[in-house]
Amino acid sequence: MSKILSIHSFRGGTGKSNITANLATLMARSGYRVAVVDTDIQSPGIHVPFGLDEGKICYTLNDYLWGRCPIEAAACDVSGVLKGRSPNSKGSLHLVPSSIKMNEISRILREGYDARLLNDGFQRLKEKLQLDYLLIDTHPGINEETLMSVILSDILVVILRPDQQDYQGTAVTLDVARKLEVPKMMLVLNKVLPALVTDALRQQIESAYHTPVAGILPVCEAMFELASRDIFCLQHPEHPWAKGVEAIAQQIAPPPQKFGLFKRTAPATPAPLHKPFFARSIGR
Ligand SMILES: Nc1ncnc2c1ncn2[C@@H]1O[C@H](COP(=O)(O)OP(=O)(O)OP(=O)(O)O)[C@@H](O)[C@H]1O
Ligand SMILES: [Mg+2]
Repeated sequence: MSKILSIHSFRGGTGKSNITANLATLMARSGYRVAVVDTDIQSPGIHVPFGLDEGKICYTLNDYLWGRCPIEAAACDVSGVLKGRSPNSKGSLHLVPSSIKMNEISRILREGYDARLLNDGFQRLKEKLQLDYLLIDTHPGINEETLMSVILSDILVVILRPDQQDYQGTAVTLDVARKLEVPKMMLVLNKVLPALVTDALRQQIESAYHTPVAGILPVCEAMFELASRDIFCLQHPEHPWAKGVEAIAQQIAPPPQKFGLFKRTAPATPAPLHKPFFARSIGR
């Protein structure tokens, strides 16, 4: 059964887009059918590590939200990042980018959109692309599209840095997610000084938030150097950051071969439509 995974943080710049792009790539490399949706409509960026050429983007999430195309028409095949780097992967990797055109960003900020369309779009994408995992890269903070993504998630990954501002905001995010009854939540600490990547820190965070820590990722120069130009885990597979992300990917999506999961002989059963917007928060 396909799962929706939202990657969120209360504050900006925590590493959401890079972690999402790397997790999605590793999942596809291990054989899953994966798509990423960039719901950071105000400041999109995840197309960059996927090397998606702006000129080759026909439709975006904005076009779908404005009724110009079905969502699958905005799904770009980005499996090319794995070319020559993953010999026998049966997986697939798509990205639904948000528009980076100034006028389109300002139009959506000015006029807004019906956030319920995200629900329909996610369900349709899961069905059309026969996805195992749909990853949602979000805008930081609590806003309408974030709440919508959180409500629709089977798994919520909250990223934080070791910073007092992040600590407070993360508590708020987790409170909201609990009220919205997200089935599974996990924390990831990023940009942690290597000397502090310890079990003691993990335990401290887990007991403070009553939420499991899926990984603690070090701050690293190599990431600054790469500057989102590629998928870090493919460039530096032996780096501790890459190993940390790999371990997180395995907790979320255990490698399918191990469990003999590859039996996609018939099309996936269409998922039932989710309950309407906010119904989970008030109705269950
Ligand atoms: N562990 C790390 N060490 C060093 N730099 C990092 C690390 N993780 C991410 N970065 C860098 O931090 C910057 C922000 O990363 P990214 O864009 O993934 O964050 P974000 O949470 O998606 O940001 P936004 O909230 O603006 O969408 C990028 O320049 C990225 O290369
Ligand atoms: Mg981002």
